[in-house]
This record gives sequence, structure tokens and C-alpha cells, in this order.
Amino acid sequence: MDLGLTYERAAEILKKHNQSHLLSFWDELSAGQQAGLLGQIASLDFAQLDNWVKTYVVNAGGPVIPANFGPAPYYPASPRPGQEELYQKAREKGVELLKAGKVAAFVVAGGQGTRLGYDGPKGNYPVSPVKKKTLFTLFGEQILAASRRYGRGLSWYVMTSPLNHEATVEIFEKAGFFGLGRENIFIFQQGTMPNFAFDGKILMADKGSLALSPDGHGGSLKALYQSGAVADMAVKGIEQISYFQVDNPLINIFDPLFIGFHAMDGAGMSSKALKKTGPLEKVGNFCLVDGKVNVIEYSDLPDEMAEKTKADGSLVFELGSIAIHIISREFIESLNKGGFALPFHRAVKKIPYIDWAGKLVEPKGPNGVKLETFVFDALNFASKSVILETIREQEFGPVKNATGVDSAQSSRVMQVERAAGWLEAAGVKVPRSGAGVDAQIEISPMFALDKEEVLAKRGMIGDISARSEVYLG
Ligand code: UD1
Repeated sequence: MDLGLTYERAAEILKKHNQSHLLSFWDELSAGQQAGLLGQIASLDFAQLDNWVKTYVVNAGGPVIPANFGPAPYYPASPRPGQEELYQKAREKGVELLKAGKVAAFVVAGGQGTRLGYDGPKGNYPVSPVKKKTLFTLFGEQILAASRRYGRGLSWYVMTSPLNHEATVEIFEKAGFFGLGRENIFIFQQGTMPNFAFDGKILMADKGSLALSPDGHGGSLKALYQSGAVADMAVKGIEQISYFQVDNPLINIFDPLFIGFHAMDGAGMSSKALKKTGPLEKVGNFCLVDGKVNVIEYSDLPDEMAEKTKADGSLVFELGSIAIHIISREFIESLNKGGFALPFHRAVKKIPYIDWAGKLVEPKGPNGVKLETFVFDALNFASKSVILETIREQEFGPVKNATGVDSAQSSRVMQVERAAGWLEAAGVKVPRSGAGVDAQIEISPMFALDKEEVLAKRGMIGDISARSEVYLG
């Protein structure tokens, strides 16, 4: 809070920026509420505010798709003939960095999770098929197992937002920081952006506070720096950050191959990609613009481009973004020192607010604009950027919706399928019916992080009977 901002000074600044209404209820507020409101006003970026209003609120500006672009090159999931040695080298490089403690995990968990309809931090949502472990528990176990594999306590950075920070900290405390050691966990909050009415006025959530929302996962690149997380990494000797979203229990947090390619190519920010299920799948598209990797959102890529095919019938823009990145600490430092700003994406939303009379309004339709930045827009600032293809069944089963596609149910099916596949590769017979695996199987990261580890522990695994529940922990 800026203790230097007085009512008079705030009134003067707000008048200049056409936001005087924010002080309309001043006289009705307690001293504490007044201080809170002044603090919120002080945290607004007045140097940018008018420009944001003009560009993104009153007008529907935002990232425009470039005039010329093509598909981005990538490393396929398995080496092409002649690339075996290169892949081997990359894997070794990744292992070397992990053993040296130079890689940290970073989950972005500041979102609202509205689509899931779950009241609480999404990381606390139970997702595993047998033990119903939460997303945070699965990530924690994976980081612990990797710490043991590589012989170092690997660090975990967690980004929250004002919507869920305290609840998230409480979950981590109650869970004993998942056995990782308090010193290896760094939880910090992302920034917020005010919500606007279509005329550019900032909406108020109540008489003493502005309507604010998290500034998007792109805000993580700023928050990592401003929170001291990047400085903490520097002290710990961490050079690379494994970025992932809170919604994906299949994430392979420390993939030596991915880390190795990124480091060997001296990339600032790299990405994992999937072959899309079809031309119009709702994921961002990896493109090359002026030699730089960019992600163009599905909603921005014209259908006729999305549907373009190569001679062999495959899609020209075949690679989708699944929000899995390796980001160099140095890249984040240089972005922040250079005063970088990512473009805003404008979302028209239903935003509850108080009206001129101080009455709470729950709008029936969209009444305003929220502004967010997207992390993948930073790719454009990286001088080098690697894309590694991954396999959907192995690494992407997000929990986003209450039912249907990308739901807890579909994710559970994928978790069981992946576990079954690892077991079958080790020669275990898995019961299957027409509908898929005919058992509930859960392999804890503490038992095995990959199919090679399942194979190594083959002797500990018994038979799996139909319709049984099997937990390997
Ligand atoms: C996102 C990507 C999409 C990708 C998909 C993969 C965008 C615009 N789209 O979609 O290209 O294919 O994931 O699953 O990002 N978060 C914050 N703070 C925020 C906003 C979000 O931490 O202010 C976090 C959320 O907690 C979550 C992640 O970012 O972990 C993704 O957010 P969400 O809004 O759910 O993205 P999607 O629309 O699912």
C-alpha cells in the first residue's frame, strides 16, 4: 500500500484520468476501508491506464495476426532417422542439469477455475482414479520422486492470485509442504488488473474496493521477478524453470529431453506441442513469424488457414500449444529489466459491480471488459525457442470442465490408460473390454515416474483382475 497517497491527491489523479467515481462513497467508508481503497488506487498503473482504456476497452484492440507466417519447425516426439544421437545427448544434458539442481518446477495456479464450478483453489481438486489425490498432491509427489531420482531437493514455485492465495498457502501448510521441505517451496501472488465498463470506467466491487481480476498467466513473468522468486532462484543456482498449468495431472514436470534441447539450443523460452486432433481444435497454433516462434490462438487463426493441408494430407498448422514451457531465468530477468510489456487480450464478461446508488448489480449479460496477458506471447521476445512434440496420451489430460471434454472424468480415463500402457510395456497383463481398461489403476509418482521405472519394478507388481482397483504407491 502506498502510504503517501492522500484523499486529495487521489482525487486529483483520478479526475485527470476520468475515474473520479471511485471515490463516490468515500464518506461512507470506515478509516480501514478508506486506507484499503487508497491502496488499490495507488497500485493502478496511471501511466498506462488511459492507453489501455483507449486501445482495449473503448476499442476492441489486441494482438493482430501477422501478415505473413508459416508453421514453426519442431523436434518430433521420437527422433527422425539419424537424430538418435542428438536426442541421446539432449537427454543427458537434461539429466546433468537436474542433478546439478539447476531446474525448478513452476505451476501457475492463479486462475478462477470458473468452468469447473469448484469453490477453492483448483490444485486442491481430487483427480486421481483410485486414491482421489489432488492435483497439488500429484505434483508434490512427482517433485519429491524426481528429487530422489536426481539426488537433490528440487524447488517448486507456485503462483497464486488474490482470489486463492491464502487458501493455497493453507493447503501447502496442512500437507507439510508435501515432504519437499519448506525451503524448497516459494508461493507468491500474481498481479491484478481493474475491470472496466465498456465506457472505460473502472468498475467497483463494493463501495470501498475496485473490481479486480488476475492479470492472466502472462503476469507470471512479471510476478516471478517482482515477488523475489527469480532472485531466490539465482541464490539457489536455478537456471531453468519448468512451467506448467495447475489443471494437468499428466504433466511430466522434469523431462530431461525437453530441458536438454532447450539448454543445448540456448533458448530463452521453449514449448511442448501436440499434434492437434483436428484443424479447429481449441488450442493455440505454433507459427513462425519473421523467424520467431509465435502462438496464434485458435480463435484468431482463420479457418481456411487452419484447414490447409500438406501433400500428405496432414495439417500445415498441425501443432497445438498445451502451455508447457521451459523458461530460462536469464530470459525472465532480461524481460523485466527491459521494462517489457505483453499485449493484452480483451475478454468481454459478466462482471458484478455496484452502481451509482451503491447497489450491487449481478448483470444478466456481458457488461464489461477484463484484460489479461498470455504467457505464450513472450515467445516472440525470445531470441531462440525450441518446440518439442509430445504425445497426448502421455502428457495431456487436463481437468477444466465439470463434465465432458477435459473433465475430471475424461482425465481419470487418461490417467488409467497411461498407467495401463506403462504396465503393458513391462509385460503386465491388463484387463481390457470394448470400453477400454477394465480396472481402475493408479501409479503414484512415488512408485514410478515413467514406464522405464515400472519395468525396473516389474517384480513388485502382481496380476490385475478385471474390475479391480489397483494402486501402486
Ligand atoms: C489454455 C491456453 C490454451 C492451451 C490450454 C492447455 C490460453 C489463452 N489458452 O487455455 O492455448 O491449449 O490452456 O490446457 O491460455 N492462470 C493463472 N492466472 C491467470 C489466468 C490463468 O495462474 O490470471 C492459470 C490457471 O490457474 C491455469 C492456467 O493458467 O493453470 C490456464 O488458464 P485457463 O484460463 O484455464 O486456460 P485455458 O482457457 O484452459
